[in-house]
Amino acid sequence: MHLYILFAHPSQESFCREVLRCFARGLEDAGHTYEVCDLYQVGFHSEMDCSQYVREVGVDPQAPLPQDVREQHKKLARCTAIVFIYPVWWSDCPAKLKGWFDRVWAYGYAYFYEKDGARRSLVQPKKALIICSAGHTEEHLEEIGIASAMRCIMLEDRLKNVGFTDVRMEILGGMMPNDMTYRARNLERAYRLGRDF
Ligand SMILES: Cc1cc2nc3c(=O)[nH]c(=O)nc-3n(C[C@H](O)[C@H](O)[C@H](O)COP(=O)(O)O)c2cc1C
Repeated sequence: MHLYILFAHPSQESFCREVLRCFARGLEDAGHTYEVCDLYQVGFHSEMDCSQYVREVGVDPQAPLPQDVREQHKKLARCTAIVFIYPVWWSDCPAKLKGWFDRVWAYGYAYFYEKDGARRSLVQPKKALIICSAGHTEEHLEEIGIASAMRCIMLEDRLKNVGFTDVRMEILGGMMPNDMTYRARNLERAYRLGRDF
């Protein structure tokens, strides 16, 4: 498989960066190939500006798209699966990644309507994995309903709604600053997620 990995964390020293390394090592051991897009490092422009907004509501699926959005579509066309790696911030992904969805899941690409009203998508990969790290433990996030809320928004709306059929979210929890309790087992889990992808 060839994977497109979207990585969203501003720090080079973060736990998420370690997760990316372990996951990638697992992929390599399993013989998969991958391409990483580090959204902060490449300075991805996450804000929907007025001209793209006007395009999005213009209901013309052929209307031209910004160059950086088209580049993302080309990368997606080359992969068989997509992986998102990010820290949970206020029960969601960082705004940098949220803006990627706002702009890259463009009308005419991620969704549009046929004459008979049927909803369609041109997004090619059908498999997606989300690996997010969280300060709270996974059990706590399940208990308070946040884990299912995150799954609902990321998996149902942002992925299945644009044509993905094989989706999964893995929460690497308990990652409070300076607390090493869960670190090693979470990194081992990240490696296995790559190896067994
Ligand atoms: C702005 C901000 C918001 C956060 N919000 C949450 C949250 O809603 N739920 C949670 O479990 N952890 C939250 N955390 C904790 C982070 O998820 C945790 O610090 C991170 O996963 C650790 O990985 P890192 O070293 O890669 O940043 C937040 C951290 C920051 C900085």
